[in-house]
Amino acid sequence: MAASQKTVLVIDNSIRKILPTDSSEGANRGIGLTFIKTLKDRGWSTIGSIRPETCDDPSVEEVRTTRSLSATGSRIVQIDYKNEETIREAAAELKDVKLDMLINCAVIAVQPHPWQTHGKDDLMERFEVMTVGPFLAIKHFLPNILRNGGGKIVNISSSSGSIAGNDDERFVGYKMAKAALNQLSVTLANGFKSNGYPISIVAFQPGYIKTKRTSYEGTIDIKESVTGMVDLTETMTPEGSPYVLS
Ligand SMILES: NC(=O)c1ccc[n+]([C@@H]2O[C@H](COP(=O)([O-])OP(=O)(O)OC[C@H]3O[C@@H](n4cnc5c(N)ncnc54)[C@H](OP(=O)(O)O)[C@@H]3O)[C@@H](O)[C@H]2O)c1
Repeated sequence: MAASQKTVLVIDNSIRKILPTDSSEGANRGIGLTFIKTLKDRGWSTIGSIRPETCDDPSVEEVRTTRSLSATGSRIVQIDYKNEETIREAAAELKDVKLDMLINCAVIAVQPHPWQTHGKDDLMERFEVMTVGPFLAIKHFLPNILRNGGGKIVNISSSSGSIAGNDDERFVGYKMAKAALNQLSVTLANGFKSNGYPISIVAFQPGYIKTKRTSYEGTIDIKESVTGMVDLTETMTPEGSPYVLS
């Protein structure tokens, strides 16, 4: 790797998105993998994540053997946001890697729809994947980001996290988790500033995009969305942070 080459870690489950089904229209597209491809094209070194349970899938044998995302040339770490130990272990594995950017990008289904049908487990799982997992990732990878100067943290949020823009009763668990992710982003930005950490942080609303999360419906082109977000990260500074954008 060139000394000046920047490195990004994207946490979702990118491996699934380069399986053979990726060639069928609309299948297995995701914002995380598009971040990896976009930053790769801009000269970045990229690290993708997979969930450990995915490694038992025979269809990922090639990737598991080579320990790289074959389609993107990325390194892989295993992270399940619901299991802090996996995050701790990934951070230990990457202890010598300087991270210039960390992207928290995972989501699980927004269903069930009526708020009364949400049980404790539905709510807790959404918090684990969309709020607590990103918090733990930031905590465990902070030394990597602070290494040789600071970096950038990108939390992929949603307009569903907006309290001002909330005008219906759908997706209560998803909305609660994304609102909490926004609050996490602002709180950590305050902490980074008061500690003098040169880290900027953003909570992005990527737009309505065709992915598994939306059952492959959407109105915004995924490459256009991600290109716009990457462009904005290039303008971010710790002084201007936090950025909670729509
Ligand atoms: N698409 C949109 O219109 C839209 C709109 C607003 C915000 N967003 C946000 O954009 C981000 C990316 O979503 P997407 O549209 O790209 O959805 P996606 O294609 O469904 O990708 C979500 C990824 O999260 C992974 N994931 C689920 N549980 C996880 C866990 N416990 N640990 C680690 N990874 C886990 C999924 O893995 P599996 O494939 O194994 O389940 C999947 O790779 C999310 O934060 C979402 O809320 C999307």
